Amino acid sequence: MASSMLSGAENLALMRAITPKAKGLCFSRSDLHGNYFPRVNLSTSSRIDRTRVAIPKCSLSASRPASQPRFIQHKKEAFWFYRFLSIVYDHVINPGHWTEDMRDDALEPADLNDRNLVVVDVGGGTGFTTLGIVKHVDAKNVTILDQSPHQLAKAKQKEPLKECKIIEGDAEDLPFPTDYADRYVSAGSIEYWPDPQRGIKEAYRVIKSGGKACLIGPVYPTFWLSRFFADVWMLFPKEEEYIEWFEKAGFTDVQLKRIGPKWYRGVRRHGLIMGCSVTGVKPASGDSPLQLGPKEEDVAKPVNPFKFFLRFILGAMAATYYVLVPIYMWLKDQIVPQGKPI
Ligand SMILES: C[S@@+](CC[C@H](N)C(=O)[O-])C[C@H]1O[C@@H](n2cnc3c(N)ncnc32)[C@H](O)[C@@H]1O
Repeated sequence: MASSMLSGAENLALMRAITPKAKGLCFSRSDLHGNYFPRVNLSTSSRIDRTRVAIPKCSLSASRPASQPRFIQHKKEAFWFYRFLSIVYDHVINPGHWTEDMRDDALEPADLNDRNLVVVDVGGGTGFTTLGIVKHVDAKNVTILDQSPHQLAKAKQKEPLKECKIIEGDAEDLPFPTDYADRYVSAGSIEYWPDPQRGIKEAYRVIKSGGKACLIGPVYPTFWLSRFFADVWMLFPKEEEYIEWFEKAGFTDVQLKRIGPKWYRGVRRHGLIMGCSVTGVKPASGDSPLQLGPKEEDVAKPVNPFKFFLRFILGAMAATYYVLVPIYMWLKDQIVPQGKPI
């Protein structure tokens, strides 16, 4: 298994060549159930590296530029996608891709260490991640924001979230004042943002000085078929892209922690819908130093319905592949003896 994840010293050298800023590539500690997923510090933070390791292949694969929208990496398409997916979301997505263990592990770097923290959960959907947040923070201090009223309707039904504020909004244009929250959390939403850098710049703006953003998202596959379906469906960023977006937005102490379902045994070649948790600290109050041009997508602009439908169907078909991958990995985990590569 480890061999499928770690590709040797040459990858580390290549990684350094690709990302000259990645001074602190390290495991800062062991991770998920003590096994395979390290927290990787790809940042310019001053943390001391304890162990130097190679970066997995998935971080090095070529992908289309993040600015090029995939079929569902578009707000209108994501809206319709969740119009239908919201009906079964908690029953289909969570068991295969985003379990309670993974959620708790991914939220750990967010330092939700005080019940009075003000937290925004952006792209909060049906509130699955929010349920993890309200274990540590009073629900009345938590706001769930999502562009899908259908997803939010599910969140509203959950008893532990009754006191949360639940609002519709866009991750790339948050309706919160500058320096508003202590923590920004977003899980599994970045893959639908047409302009991820803008969303991360917004994360920076809305948190207070010293506050932390925690963004949980997919990682890019290396296996050719998985890569094909990932690219057709939505944005699967590479690890170094997350780091770059955070640093460009102005965050410091940027850390990346790898996560994944237990039964994947650390395999990342098919990519993961929830593959890493990236955190950064806001060093000073005010807006992000990053200047951006106009938004990538104008949602008010009329669309060609035929083209829209075709993109939507192709994107949804590609998404189906990612419903099957965890089932395949789960079966492999059952069949292949523990300790052997899968
Ligand atoms: C995979 S779900 C994740 C939901 C939830 N965070 C969880 O952990 O289960 C992605 C969510 O992001 C939302 N979303 C996509 N694009 C968005 C945007 N631009 N602004 C706000 N929410 C968005 C979708 O509506 C959907 O509810």
